Amino acid sequence: MPPRIQAPKGTRDILPSETALWAAVEGTARSVFGRYGFREIRTPIFEDTELFTRGVGESSDIVGKEMYSFVDKGERHLTLRPENTASVVRAFVEHGMHRLPPPVKLFYIGPQFRFERPQKGRYRQFHQIGAELLGGKGAESDAEVLLMLVAFFRELGFRDLKVLVNTVGDGPSRAAYRETLLRFLEPHREELSEESVRRLATNPLRVLDSKSPQEQELLAAAPRLADSLSEKSRTHFAAVCSALEQFEVPYEIAPRLVRGLDYYTNTVFEIVSEGLGSQNAVCGGGAYEGLVEELGGPPTYGVGFAIGEDRLLEVLPADSPARRAGLSLSVGPVVVAAAEKLPVKEGGLSPIFALVERLRRLGIPAVEAAGKQEKVYERAVSMQAPAIVYAGERGLEDGTYNVRILATGERLQLDELELAKRLQPFFSFTGAFPEAAPARPSPASAVLGDED
Ligand code: HAM
Repeated sequence: MPPRIQAPKGTRDILPSETALWAAVEGTARSVFGRYGFREIRTPIFEDTELFTRGVGESSDIVGKEMYSFVDKGERHLTLRPENTASVVRAFVEHGMHRLPPPVKLFYIGPQFRFERPQKGRYRQFHQIGAELLGGKGAESDAEVLLMLVAFFRELGFRDLKVLVNTVGDGPSRAAYRETLLRFLEPHREELSEESVRRLATNPLRVLDSKSPQEQELLAAAPRLADSLSEKSRTHFAAVCSALEQFEVPYEIAPRLVRGLDYYTNTVFEIVSEGLGSQNAVCGGGAYEGLVEELGGPPTYGVGFAIGEDRLLEVLPADSPARRAGLSLSVGPVVVAAAEKLPVKEGGLSPIFALVERLRRLGIPAVEAAGKQEKVYERAVSMQAPAIVYAGERGLEDGTYNVRILATGERLQLDELELAKRLQPFFSFTGAFPEAAPARPSPASAVLGDED
């Protein structure tokens, strides 16, 4: 036998038993973001490599060592997107969206690719749910985006969120701080890690990001970025904090939060969750005032965030409404089985085949299952089917069937129209608001609790 092929390192399959929960979480994002006027954009999975070297920045780890870059058969230098902000801004400029009345509000959901060492919460293909507000009004836009983010997490049932915010200042503030920080760090060069020495040359602010306890100790005495802020940056940050207070967002100022991408200016933020271990950021974002220009557009104020969906699912509260919505979304098709051995009709199709197709045309998801009753039952349970329909020869002639509703244990005799009517509520769940779903026992748990 040839050796088995497995999913590439750092990637994984999201199986049918999980996809409904993913869809429910994404449904919540669509509904909350929509309330704030954001609309979905889907950009290509790969882009010109230069988009990221220019957009995300040469000094970032992403561009420096994590990109999946390749040359295609037409000699183009391409890269699997490591993040989506640069692509969204490229699309914004390419489609002349800067000429639309501002702000332009876009959100995205999809896979991103980074060549990182895989570990819990860190994958090479991972998924982000993100949003970008372009053409915004400074602090007010930062606040709007943060409030939307918090609304999303709350709607997912998170209660103890930790929102970390900081400001990295505007261009002039950062240039001033860079010099001050370099003057402080240079004499300690010998004590710094290789990584930090490299950062001294590329982006000294990133040294503040160091996780090493030794460096953290040294950095405790470092001059603070807050002291190099221009008046404008100071006012900007104060306005963001005051908006968060006004709307009762629990936040913490994290003076060393600088973020790993080069495009940020002024406000930066992260949401962290204790449940995630070392990879504890579920969301990162901030404002960027130069990126649109850098990518060929007019000066435009941008602010946005991206949530790591894989990590979000790992720490999703046990009582999250999305779990209930996910259960409803994961209802399988009705299972139709022969109650006895049936004669094959002309043309070689089983009579069940036709019944299943008629049910589908009545709007009822249905599949055929063959075999002994226990097997059919097991299959129905594994598919989270709401019901099993048994069709015998007589029933196929007079059009009535024995139906077993798995959620309640009822056994009924119904004709096709009655059947469609009885089963319809199981499939009428419409979206992100589980409260709107018909009240009924969840088929999955009820099925699993069924005795025989
Ligand atoms: P980022 O901090 O690089 O920001 O990524 C955002 C989130 O994506 C992280 O907080 C984390 O949850 C998730 N993430 C990143 N890398 C991985 C990985 N290897 N495995 C699993 N999850 C991961 C950005 O990407 C910016 N584009 C955010 C942004 C939007 N800033 C402004 N607008």
